Amino acid sequence: MKITLKVWRQSRPDAAGTFKKYEVDADPNMSWLELLDHLNAQRMRAGKEPVAFDSDCREGICGACGILINGRPHGDADNLPACHQRVGKRKEGEVVTIEPFRARQYPVIKDLMVDRSALDEILMSGGYSDTDTGTAPDADEVGNTHQVAELALDMAACIGCGACVVACPNGAANLFAGAKLAHLAALNVPSRQRRKRAQQMVSVLDANFGPCSLYGECEAVCPANIPLRAVAAVARERSYAPRAK
Ligand code: FES
Repeated sequence: MKITLKVWRQSRPDAAGTFKKYEVDADPNMSWLELLDHLNAQRMRAGKEPVAFDSDCREGICGACGILINGRPHGDADNLPACHQRVGKRKEGEVVTIEPFRARQYPVIKDLMVDRSALDEILMSGGYSDTDTGTAPDADEVGNTHQVAELALDMAACIGCGACVVACPNGAANLFAGAKLAHLAALNVPSRQRRKRAQQMVSVLDANFGPCSLYGECEAVCPANIPLRAVAAVARERSYAPRAK
């Protein structure tokens, strides 16, 4: 089946970008990244510049592959990263648009690659978490209940792809920040460390991203299935944090 990819091409961050059309042979079982590989192989054989895009694990765990497919973060299917989304059944000659994640916070580096370090800044602002070391704890010394441990694991599933920000009409990163705050709050760390971390992370979140109005678009596209209730952790940890002077 031949389809037409309308791909965003931008040579460098300060260059004007534009869409270019490429006709490719697509198999319904291919992932969109495999189709881009296929397009690039074709272009390189012809001595043309390949399309730049990010990917790493291709297993849904690194978050590097975020792109917009027909205007939707990661593609048609809910809660799947682009590396797991299949081309699926398309009509012969169908046009599919592929472009970089669109958000003020994610400047384009080249073609489909964006700089998502605004998300890293939230994490980095939280600093480190320490824990007592020493001999192994006794088996009956339970630091957390099973429910808290499960919650921490669910929230730790966030892969930091940034799709939540792109899907949100406000450009809010509360799903991302809420997942990280809820995960870190479940660690057995001194409360002063939790307060300081929450204050720093929430102030970077507020400074760099839009406010959350609970649209819920983020939950529908999140490839890690982070539930919307994660955003409550931002409000909870904000109240836990001392006010900035
Ligand atoms: S390439 Fe790692 S999540 Fe898609």
